[in-house]
Amino acid sequence: MSFKNKTVIITGGTRGIGKELCYEFAKKGCNIIFTYARSSKEAKIIEEDINKLGVSAIAKKLNLLHLENIEEFYKFLNKKNIKIDFLINNAASGVMKNSLDTTEKHWDWTMQINIKSPWVLSKKISNIMNKKGRIINITSPGSTKVMNNYFSIGVSKAALESMTRYMAFDLAPKDINVNSISASLLERDAIKHFPNQDEINNILKRPNPKQKKLIPNHIAKVAIMLCSEGGDMIVGQNILVDGGDTLLLR
Ligand SMILES: NC(=O)c1ccc[n+]([C@@H]2O[C@H](COP(=O)([O-])OP(=O)(O)OC[C@H]3O[C@@H](n4cnc5c(N)ncnc54)[C@H](OP(=O)(O)O)[C@@H]3O)[C@@H](O)[C@H]2O)c1
Repeated sequence: MSFKNKTVIITGGTRGIGKELCYEFAKKGCNIIFTYARSSKEAKIIEEDINKLGVSAIAKKLNLLHLENIEEFYKFLNKKNIKIDFLINNAASGVMKNSLDTTEKHWDWTMQINIKSPWVLSKKISNIMNKKGRIINITSPGSTKVMNNYFSIGVSKAALESMTRYMAFDLAPKDINVNSISASLLERDAIKHFPNQDEINNILKRPNPKQKKLIPNHIAKVAIMLCSEGGDMIVGQNILVDGGDTLLLR
């Protein structure tokens, strides 16, 4: 399978799952446009590294907190006449508090980055997508299950999964498949921000039925599968990648 002459946009490509997505798609011959909010140094290193793999890599600053940045990004793509094959809405942020301590400001912040901006970006990019286009939203089981201090992010992920279904319906006639990948908890930088570290570490330590640690590469491989020919008739689905973890009654 090769993605030669195809182009993917990956939001939040500087860390964790996003970074892994950049490398995995590049290894398949795909040109990479990845975005970041703050990590310009890291972005430069990844951009240079991926260019060495023989594909084109472009790192662009795109803070999803402000919609005008999306407009600017879209103008940049149009100016360069770049057509897109795949968009992966991976970037996310959020305030780690429970539903009672979360303020309206926290709520607005999380919803802007995790749901409103991915919707606006998806709408825009769908206008410049080639046939057999794919949009993938990265979500988490916190959309349907409760995790301490995950309130606003969990709600935003539930909205993202719903958005996936609605946009899948609207974009399917244009030959653009929209799906989401739900990743179980991974050992990543982001989880260090949880105030309840012991609880998080216990979740990470508990064995799943596969008896295998989930790593970002597992998520990236599923994204590759969805973007390949095999994903042609997968529309509006949420693919859970957790080694069977959520099957268990805990
Ligand atoms: N980690 C997990 O256990 C886990 C589990 C399930 C689902 N997920 C989901 O997987 C995705 C990636 O998570 P991760 O933990 O791998 O990554 P991460 O370490 O949290 O990195 C997040 C990425 O998003 C970017 N970002 C942060 N705030 C942004 C903003 N305001 N505007 C634009 N970009 C912004 C960051 O850019 P900078 O580096 O420039 O800040 C970074 O590239 C997220 O959607 C997350 O919810 C993660």
